[in-house]
Amino acid sequence: MPSRHIPVMSQEVIENIGEIPGRNFADLTFGDGGHTDMILELMAHSIVGVDRDEETLKEYLRSGKFREDPRLQLIHAPFSEFATQDSTERFDGILLDLGVSTRQLLSPDRGFSFSGENALDMRMDRSANSPTALEALKKASINDIVEQLEFADVKKPHKVAREIKDRLQAGRLNTTADLAEIGGGGSRARHPSTQLFMGIRLLVNQEFSEISLAVPALIDKLTPNGRLLVITFHSSEDRLIKRILASLSGKCVCDSPVCQCPKIERARPLFDKPLTPSRAEQRSNPRSRSAKLRGVMRVD
Ligand SMILES: C[S@@+](CC[C@H](N)C(=O)[O-])C[C@H]1O[C@@H](n2cnc3c(N)ncnc32)[C@H](O)[C@@H]1O
Repeated sequence: MPSRHIPVMSQEVIENIGEIPGRNFADLTFGDGGHTDMILELMAHSIVGVDRDEETLKEYLRSGKFREDPRLQLIHAPFSEFATQDSTERFDGILLDLGVSTRQLLSPDRGFSFSGENALDMRMDRSANSPTALEALKKASINDIVEQLEFADVKKPHKVAREIKDRLQAGRLNTTADLAEIGGGGSRARHPSTQLFMGIRLLVNQEFSEISLAVPALIDKLTPNGRLLVITFHSSEDRLIKRILASLSGKCVCDSPVCQCPKIERARPLFDKPLTPSRAEQRSNPRSRSAKLRGVMRVD
């Protein structure tokens, strides 16, 4: 059984999500429910937990701390769907803690990890009729692959994408071990396959379009002065969030000589620079090291 996910920057989340007792929240990357548990412990009125991974929700319903608490409602859906659906429900605080959980990463059959030899799956949602990594790579154009590899900072993305396509054609790319042979990056701090696996995971789960669709729509799901917090783990993910939040704050984010931005202030940043985990947290949970927390408050 893979280890339970340790919630990242939970103290900072609690301190910045606004008043908790009696208020309503949405945790749109529920995972193992670590952040949700803390919010419920602090006497929230209700919380909606959303995750596109049905298995993780089922696991919580088997053993989670508040599984029988009527204040908790669990929804199996991608957060873009939740964010864009018509509903009058409003939340005082919404949390996004992006990426995959430790449970997903360490479940060999999910194919997220480059250690071992497993099927190339990498779907967060295995219940849907969505393509596995192997199917997505076969279907994608070289340019689609390059785009996602660039987001993940893979070195020489064109060369790597070409090699992926060549290996697929030769029938030599079927497992995570085959993919790990390609490499694609690495540094003293990172395994050579880290970026490549992330790039393919982004492609399979369309993570950047999920974020681009959901985050602007989420402002409308907040009560006046309600807060949206987002935790990222990768610089390009953080750049995307920074840009979307800047745009929602009425700033210009275009590169055009004549600004095309709406410049309507719908939200105000909670802090100038993103918050990062304390040294103590980074030591006790190395996975938290690259985390960044950004937040805004809805203004009307
Ligand atoms: C980093 S984990 C969150 C961990 C959680 N905060 C906890 O304390 O246990 C990210 C979770 O978000 C889910 N997820 C990622 N992208 C999603 C999306 N677009 N829609 C819904 N769930 C998503 C993943 O399946 C995973 O369970």
